[in-house]
Amino acid sequence: MDSRSWLLLEHEDPAYRLPDDLRQHDPLGARDCGWVEQMRPFIRQFSRPGEQVLDPFCGFASTLVAAHLEGRRGLGYEIDPARAELSRERLRRLNAEGAEVIASDLLEAPPADPVDLCLTNIPYFGCDWPADAGPAQLYAAAHYEQYLDGLVERFHRIRDLLAPGRHCILMAENLRLGDRCVPLAWDVAQRVGGLFELCEERILLYPKPVEPLPAFSSRSDRSHEYALIFRKQGSTLDTDDALTLLRALRDAGFAFAIYGSFATWLTSTSAQPPADVDLLVAPDEDRLNALLGWLQAHHFRLSCWQQSLTLPIALADYRGRYYFRAERLDRSGGLLRLDLTFEQDSEPVAARLDRTQICQGLLVAS
Ligand SMILES: C[S@@+](CC[C@H](N)C(=O)[O-])C[C@H]1O[C@@H](n2cnc3c(N)ncnc32)[C@H](O)[C@@H]1O
Repeated sequence: MDSRSWLLLEHEDPAYRLPDDLRQHDPLGARDCGWVEQMRPFIRQFSRPGEQVLDPFCGFASTLVAAHLEGRRGLGYEIDPARAELSRERLRRLNAEGAEVIASDLLEAPPADPVDLCLTNIPYFGCDWPADAGPAQLYAAAHYEQYLDGLVERFHRIRDLLAPGRHCILMAENLRLGDRCVPLAWDVAQRVGGLFELCEERILLYPKPVEPLPAFSSRSDRSHEYALIFRKQGSTLDTDDALTLLRALRDAGFAFAIYGSFATWLTSTSAQPPADVDLLVAPDEDRLNALLGWLQAHHFRLSCWQQSLTLPIALADYRGRYYFRAERLDRSGGLLRLDLTFEQDSEPVAARLDRTQICQGLLVAS
């Protein structure tokens, strides 16, 4: 891959295209099947030979075919059993023995081992999926927010499987639904960008014959899509800035405990610099609203599971969501991120507290 921000895809190699007899078995006629060629440069650039490439929405296994051709191990999840079987047959015909297709949702049967690269064409919204489907089939989502939440939930899990510094690359395009333009690629960039660091986008171009447009029409032939390149945070925060903020919060009378990587860094000289600050706060609606209001007044963007918060919040609406996030970006690109965990009794927090230290130095008893 070179530094150009776009990739021109003009030729699909017939040797690796989805065979026509397999295509005919699909309820959508495999119109959502991508190109092996679109995946290969990303696999070469963002993984090493022998490493594992995960596609959580593997469809017809185009990513797994590309991984096989580049000497990587492909692991795919496809929720539709018939498509999973088409994928396996396609891989068998190419003798791609190292590739595995799991006919399931990744949340149901997550991989046991870490993965080195996640690369996928995300399912689109509004595709009128014709086959039987359970609630996990994102093609069958009736509403856009429900669809975006479903995507975010799966990328949350994928983040745990990737080592820091490794990449998660999503191919997505903005959509036209009826007369409405839906900025799906940008919404996904924003929502998944709350889980990973967005590093770059590349534009993939698939030239088609052009047609003249009537005056004032804005419709394009949509012969492009975006490859959104995310990285699991390798970047660190400005620790002086974070300490200044924590002191200001303490001086304003807010009660919190520091835990996680920031607490470890504060108490050990050899620890890695942290990427964010984890705070444990009491699940008290009034105090939380006051704290969130203070952060908002100090130019933090507030969210919960990548959705913006409107104050005041009713805590009961956020049961099972564990934490609020506050982020402030400065003009040199520095990001100060605080995760405010409010459900102390929840399983995940209890487990995390076992593994980490609460920092007594800055602890203010609630
Ligand atoms: C855009 S297609 C992938 C096509 C693939 N890139 C290819 O070229 O072969 C997205 C796929 O995601 C699958 N899917 C949707 N929700 C899923 C879920 N929760 N888990 C696994 N697969 C899912 C759909 O059935 C669909 O086949």
